[in-house]
Amino acid sequence: MHKVRIVQKLDLVPIERRLEAISEAGNNTFLLKNRDVFMDMLTDSGVNAMSDKQLAAMMEADDSYAGSATFTKLENKIKEIFGMEYFLPAHQGRACENIISQGFVKPGDIIPMNYHFTTSKAHITLNGGTVEEIIIDEGLKTTSNYPFKGNMDIAKLRGLISKHGAEKIAYVRLETGTNLIGGQPHSLENMQEIRKVCDEFGIMLVLDASLLADNLYFIKSREEKCKDMSIREIARAMADLSDIIYFSARKLGCARGGGICTRSKDIYMKLRELITLYEGFLTYGGMSVREIEAIAVGLEETMDENMINQGPQFIAYMCEKLQESGIPVITPPGGLGCHLNAMEFVDHIPQSEYPAGALASALYIVSGVRGMERGTISEQRDENGNEHFSNMELLRLAMPRRVFTLSQVNYAVDRIKWLYENRKLIGGIKFVEEPKVLRFFFGKLAATSDWQSKLVSKFRKDFGDSL
Ligand code: F0G
Repeated sequence: MHKVRIVQKLDLVPIERRLEAISEAGNNTFLLKNRDVFMDMLTDSGVNAMSDKQLAAMMEADDSYAGSATFTKLENKIKEIFGMEYFLPAHQGRACENIISQGFVKPGDIIPMNYHFTTSKAHITLNGGTVEEIIIDEGLKTTSNYPFKGNMDIAKLRGLISKHGAEKIAYVRLETGTNLIGGQPHSLENMQEIRKVCDEFGIMLVLDASLLADNLYFIKSREEKCKDMSIREIARAMADLSDIIYFSARKLGCARGGGICTRSKDIYMKLRELITLYEGFLTYGGMSVREIEAIAVGLEETMDENMINQGPQFIAYMCEKLQESGIPVITPPGGLGCHLNAMEFVDHIPQSEYPAGALASALYIVSGVRGMERGTISEQRDENGNEHFSNMELLRLAMPRRVFTLSQVNYAVDRIKWLYENRKLIGGIKFVEEPKVLRFFFGKLAATSDWQSKLVSKFRKDFGDSL
């Protein structure tokens, strides 16, 4: 439900250059340069297409250190949508996580959550807390028909509270549109059940709403009880169940920034100083006022079902096309992107040789499509230096909102099909440079054999001079 009026030229560099580029990048797609990338499916963060209305709003931003009218606009939009009186701006999602963790997590605390996100876990751990993942069992099944694989297991939540005592639980974190398990949503009903438990024990419920747009769409389209509710009503119902909502506005609202919303003055007062210490004054919090204008409009646009359905519908299309050729993807299709199940795609590569990372490298070589490893490389080693094998080995092919056309999605599907037919040529990768924290961002890896040049030879044999 949009047309494209601003375009950006893309280049598809030849496969020989792609092979060079991926080895320069240490087989880490984060380290590729954009000029070597054809379809950038690394993330949906900060790369969603903005609307004409967002761009127009950016032109009238009111810049001032304190008291910016632009900030008031966003504050009012948050009040209108979430019914939350207080809004603390931050430069992006992980900045909110830093502030919330510093404000509420003490050494020895437990933070139950449906599933972790890399940065949320890192901040909690840094403050001495322990993350406990209590996703329902169905959530970790790669293929399923269950509509809400992002749900929290309520019995496990009760179990954690009785084991550790409510006073040890800093807060319960619910990640809407659960990122690392394939953008899988939770239901409104599940959130209501979590709230009941939180009320019973006096525990705060913190909602990570970075992927709210997708989750709203799935609640509306998959949850029988909500099918007559508007997107706005669902958003308000979720907000009413939360003590704190924080979000990355690089995702939610299709701009760049973030913030923390609450209706509690106590929470606001507790976190306020940390914002001025780490982010900036309370009326910008590290964001440009232009982005703040764009977020206010973007949040309003998120209330439009015809806007938020585009991502999930393209993702479902891509997953279905791949499944027709027997290619293993996470099902049901979620939000955020199409997720290839590397554990099956390259089932000959042991987890110690990073199947999802190897698949990311191989797909880039044969297509110029840049995906993101979401498997063991994205985990951290334990305190003894042992590898922590992740539950899933996924290659995430993110679908930035309003960016690609269906013919581009078809191109990606075609190349993935070819790669699947030639999957036995793909080999493992190993670290040659391994940072201690968030190693997936900067780590460099090398192929364990000459499999990459063999893949290029087979491509040339099948595709001739084609790119
Ligand atoms: N929470 C969730 C669920 C996220 O997906 C992200 C970011 C963050 C928090 C942190 O927000 O990037 O603005 O600091 N996810 C990006 C991704 C990085 O590619 O999935 P941020």
